[in-house]
Amino acid sequence: QAAGDPVITEVQDWNRYPGDGVDVHPYGMPSQFEADVVRRNVAWLTADPISSINFTPLHSLDGIITPNGLCFERHHAGAAVIDPKEHRLMINGLVDKPLIFTMEDLKRFPRYNRVYFLECAANSGMEWRGAQLNGCQFTHGMLHCVMYTGVLLKDILNEAGVKTSGKWVLAEGADASAMTRSIPLDKAMEDCMVAFGQNGEALRTEQGYPLRLVVPGFEGNMWVKWLRRLEVGDEPWQQREETSKYTDLLPNGKARRFTFAMDVKSVITNPSPQAPITHGKGRTVLTGLAWSGHGTIKRVDVSIDGGRNWHTARIDGPSLSLALHRFYYEFDWDGSDLYLQSRAIDEKGYVQPTKNELRATRGENSIYHNNGIQTWYVNKDGVAENVEVS
Ligand code: MTE
Ligand code: CO
Repeated sequence: QAAGDPVITEVQDWNRYPGDGVDVHPYGMPSQFEADVVRRNVAWLTADPISSINFTPLHSLDGIITPNGLCFERHHAGAAVIDPKEHRLMINGLVDKPLIFTMEDLKRFPRYNRVYFLECAANSGMEWRGAQLNGCQFTHGMLHCVMYTGVLLKDILNEAGVKTSGKWVLAEGADASAMTRSIPLDKAMEDCMVAFGQNGEALRTEQGYPLRLVVPGFEGNMWVKWLRRLEVGDEPWQQREETSKYTDLLPNGKARRFTFAMDVKSVITNPSPQAPITHGKGRTVLTGLAWSGHGTIKRVDVSIDGGRNWHTARIDGPSLSLALHRFYYEFDWDGSDLYLQSRAIDEKGYVQPTKNELRATRGENSIYHNNGIQTWYVNKDGVAENVEVS
């Protein structure tokens, strides 16, 4: 092969002619050969793309940071376009001094940089009753992880002075969706941020430019985008998104409410249905993501035989609290059928459950908070499929 490989023996165009000059791409874009690395929608999931979702292409990414242009989008009334000069953040309710901040005011508070995952509570929701969508982009892609730059919510709440009767904070968005969520004051004071930066640049429009709330480890719906108002109160407001939505209807007819922290979860991103094994048997790299709304990931186990035998995966890259963790398992594929699974364990000792364990306690009504173990079946040709094993 090496003797006659034309890529080596013949001079190629890119070797003969100069490429684009420095002024051609003032804002750089990915290589044209990466054109299929894009967010994708599942058309039948929602009635209209205005109140809809697209999914992060997890099977095409590596490391722990999601590129800005590939962060999944979820909005209930389209992506609002707001001139930062005309954006205000108001604080009212049980405070000593109601305040209104401009973006410039906010940027004069001490700034912090924190890497956090965001997972929509509905991620994997379509999989509650059985394997459905063929690809980790669709089963697990309501997930991203970026470095936020912003100010601590605590600092601006303290500026307004929270009254001792204040126990909850209502966050309200400026878009047309009337997005409003009640956040416990303890969480607001612990680690929430009001962010204007995402991976070193300004937030993207889709992520709530110019300002979004960051609620580390908690369900994505609480991370109000286009944040315009914070009200301090003494009890939760029981808004639409915390009553009829984002609650889990249990078999006994009662609902689990305020399931804020996203439980420990993981998924194998390669191989997977959109990323089959194309190289045949032999040396194979398996990789995936693990995360927990309760802290860092302590360990990830991988099975290639549907959960009979488990191997400890290798976590590589920073292990940051409430951020994605990247794991790898390198093995020698003998070409036989594979049933791939990953199981994450977080720093609190929580172990990711099987889907059947989850159904045994929560029933089958829910579409939210599904952190069950995912199985990919890989046949001898390397083709992968979403399945369940019992
Ligand atoms: N904030 C506003 N103002 N409007 C919205 O529609 N969607 C929420 C939340 N914040 C939403 C919002 C939901 S359900 C999720 S999962 C996250 O934003 C999604 O964040 P992303 O679009 O940056 O991925
Ligand atoms: Co959501």
